[in-house]
Amino acid sequence: MGQNSLAGLEPVVVLTGAGISSESGVPTFRGAEGMWENHRPEELATPSAFHKDPEKVWRFYAWRRQVIGACAPNAAHRLLAEMESEIDDFTLITQNIDGLHQAAGSQRVIELHGSLWRERCLREGKRWESREQESPSPLRLCPDCGSLARPDVVWFGEGLDHQVYRRALEAAGRARTMLVIGTSAVVEPAASLPLLAQRAGAKLIEINPEVTPLSAWVNERLAGPATRELASWWTGQLAGT
Ligand code: OAD
Repeated sequence: MGQNSLAGLEPVVVLTGAGISSESGVPTFRGAEGMWENHRPEELATPSAFHKDPEKVWRFYAWRRQVIGACAPNAAHRLLAEMESEIDDFTLITQNIDGLHQAAGSQRVIELHGSLWRERCLREGKRWESREQESPSPLRLCPDCGSLARPDVVWFGEGLDHQVYRRALEAAGRARTMLVIGTSAVVEPAASLPLLAQRAGAKLIEINPEVTPLSAWVNERLAGPATRELASWWTGQLAGT
């Protein structure tokens, strides 16, 4: 299918949340099976928690690396990678830190909340990739200066990386079509990107089995799991319907 039939959708922006990875076996944050039901975020995912007990926080992230490292991208991740190669003006923004979009083949991913697979030196801010899960101590150190490292993720109470957020804002402001997949749309500032895009003229399509605060505003709601709903939406676009 040529790009011409898709050109009417462009620029396409996709915002994903934990729900897109749930069919890969990654726990979501909220809801009955959600991770925050079993862990208190303020004890694990805040700067003050890390300051108080970095070993405990690193143990939590080592556990998440173990759980997520055993998960594979699903058909929805793979289809988004395919869409990136079919659509000229395509931007994928994710709130997920799991790296499954990249594992599925997506090349350009705006990771709003950082990455589970990156670490950052607390002293100098240097970043590096790491898949380390177990070492004699759970604490991770900067390979250059030996200072304590932290997960390169955004914690509660922290702002987003300015450059990353600016790229997301710019993409949302230019979008003609925005797909919002698997997010409860309650965590700011990510939650505001779709409405901002809509105000600037984008058509909003939400894929989520549950109703969210965004649902009342979207132009189209596809109530179901991401793998199924994204595939049928994409088939419809290719067929020109
Ligand atoms: P949530 O756990 O808040 O929401 C997951 C959403 O996915 C819910 O609305 C579910 O209904 C939906 N969902 C579940 N299964 C699905 C499926 N198969 N297909 C499509 N949707 C499905 O996750 P997020 O919205 O991503 O931030 O959470 C936002 C942020 O809150 C996270 O990035 C994290 C957390 O605090 C930080 O850690 C900074």
